[in-house]
Amino acid sequence: MSVTILAIESSCDDTSAAVVRDGFLLSNLIANQDVHRQYGGVVPELASRAHQANIVPVVDTAIKQAGVKSDEIDAVAFTRGPGLLGSLLVGASFAKGFAVARKLPLIEVNHLHAHVMAHWISEHGAENRLPRFPFLCLLVSGGHTQILIIRDHRSIEQIGSTIDDAAGEAFDKCAKVMGLGYPGGPVIDRLAAEGDSAKFSFSKPVIKDLDYSFSGLKTSFLYFLRDRLKEDPDFVKNNLNHLAASLQRTIVEILMNKLIKAADSTGILEIGIAGGVAANSGLRKAVTREAEKRKWNIFLPAMRYTTDNAAMIAITGYYKYLSADFSDHDITPLARYNL
Ligand code: KG4
Ligand code: ZN
Repeated sequence: MSVTILAIESSCDDTSAAVVRDGFLLSNLIANQDVHRQYGGVVPELASRAHQANIVPVVDTAIKQAGVKSDEIDAVAFTRGPGLLGSLLVGASFAKGFAVARKLPLIEVNHLHAHVMAHWISEHGAENRLPRFPFLCLLVSGGHTQILIIRDHRSIEQIGSTIDDAAGEAFDKCAKVMGLGYPGGPVIDRLAAEGDSAKFSFSKPVIKDLDYSFSGLKTSFLYFLRDRLKEDPDFVKNNLNHLAASLQRTIVEILMNKLIKAADSTGILEIGIAGGVAANSGLRKAVTREAEKRKWNIFLPAMRYTTDNAAMIAITGYYKYLSADFSDHDITPLARYNL
C-alpha cells in the first residue's frame, strides 16, 4: 500500500511544504521571507505574519506540483519545534486544521531530527545513497551544533553539543560585525573563496569531551577588528576576503576536531553533516579530505536540503507513519525541543 505524506515547516523564516510518497520526494516548495534582510536578522513578529500570508499558496502549490490529489494524502506532518513560537504556531495550526478537516493522522516532527533525516530523502531518477546505522552526524545550524549517533530512523543519541553559541551563529554574528548582510554564513563562504585562510588567526576554545563553544571566537574576532580598525579605518574593507577565509577556516577546524574525535571514539565510519552550515564549502571540503584519510563513508546533503525545508519534515514524518507514531490533535508547538 502506498503512503503519501504532506509536510509543513515554519520554524523560522521560511514557509515550506512538501509531499513524500513511499520515501520518494514529489515536491518541496519554499517561500523565503526577504522582509528580514533590512533588519539584519529574523524579526519574529514579521516572520509569523509572513507565514500566515504564505502558507495556503505554498501548501496548495506543493500538492499540485506533487501531482497528487488531496484525498490521496494519508497524514500531515509538521514541525513542532524548536523554533520561533509564533512561526511554529502558524504551521502547527494549519496542519491541525488540514488533518481534522480530512480526518487524517497528525505527525509532529522535531526540526533537529528532520535535519538529520534529510539524508534519507530519495528522489526519482537520482542515485539515492542512504546511510546505514549507526550513523554519526554533525548537525550544524543557526541555533544548534551537535554530534549525534543515529541508531535507527527514530532513535538518536547526542554525544556532543555547544555550550553557548551555535556554529551558524558564529558565522552570522561575525558577518554582522563586518557589516555583511543576514544570514552571514553564505556571504562569508562566498568571500572566503577569494581569501587567504592563513592570513589571520583567532583563538580556538579548549572544551572538554565532544562539546563545542563558539562565543569566545566571536569575542576574539570582535576585539581583533576593533584593534586593527584603530590603526586603519579601512581594515575590514581592505581585508574582507582574508578575514572571511580565516574565520571560516577557524570555525571549520573547531568543528572537524570534535567530529574526528567522535569518529575515533565510537569507531563509526558512516558519517555525515546536516543543517544550514552543512552548505559551507570549507566544511564540505574538510569532511571530504578526512574521509579519504580515514576511510569514512561520508554523506553530504544536497545543498537544497541543508537549510530549512519541508522535504526533511516529510521524510521524518514518513518513517514515523510507518511506526504509527501519531500525535493527538491538541498537541502544541515547542520553542525549545530537545532531541
Ligand atoms: O538549518 P538552518 O537553515 O536554520 C536553522 O535551523 O538554524 O541554518 C541556518 C544557518 C545560518 O546561521 C546560516 O548563516 C548558516 O546556516 N549557513 C551557512 C551557509 N549557508 C547557511 N553557514 C556557512 N556557510 C554557508 N554556505
Ligand atoms: Zn533548521
